[in-house]
Amino acid sequence: MEYVLGITGSSGIIYGARLLERLPHKRVLILSRGAEKVIEKELGERKFLNDLIEKADEFHWEEELDAPQSSGSHLFDAYVICPASMNTVAKIAAGISDNLITRVASVAMKESRKFIVVFRETPLSYIHLRNLMEISRGGGVVMPASPGFYHMPKDINEIIDFMVSRILDQIGVKNDIINRWGSEKD
Ligand SMILES: Cc1cc2nc3c(=O)[nH]c(=O)nc-3n(C[C@H](O)[C@H](O)[C@H](O)COP(=O)(O)O)c2cc1C
Repeated sequence: MEYVLGITGSSGIIYGARLLERLPHKRVLILSRGAEKVIEKELGERKFLNDLIEKADEFHWEEELDAPQSSGSHLFDAYVICPASMNTVAKIAAGISDNLITRVASVAMKESRKFIVVFRETPLSYIHLRNLMEISRGGGVVMPASPGFYHMPKDINEIIDFMVSRILDQIGVKNDIINRWGSEKD
């Protein structure tokens, strides 16, 4: 199995970082330069970036358009962009494939593969909503980073895990990270 994760320059990088830890082998990570900037501002340390890259089995910067995932002939099981900036969402909605993150989105949609877009932005303009709708129409699953609270989170990690669990559910990765509604766990 191969799971591709794109992380772009949106607040909420921690969702993507946590998801990467939970993805099964093989984990392919793609970072945009926007993500690099947000990591620097939001998480404050170079070490976070290095640790993130270290956790991936395969890593690419967005410029690496010659990576295997750029071609439809290379098989992967699912592609998640988390978090997805509104810049990247707009480019994908317009069919632009100017970097590896947007190109893999284009490949995932044309090949009818699982494609999940997790965004944090709020509030949303008409343009944002229209772009997200285009991705949904194109076969992507659009997920706001909008954690529930019915699992009674005790700390920020459990709030993040709620989203990670829902994303894993979408790409068919069995997980028992959170207490599910109606389950007897705990
Ligand atoms: C600290 C910081 C936080 C940002 N947060 C967001 C955000 O939450 N959502 C968003 O759409 N853009 C956000 N941006 C702006 C994007 O990073 C910017 O539009 C960038 O061009 C995105 O590039 P990318 O899509 O290639 O990663 C943020 C920028 C910075 C520096």
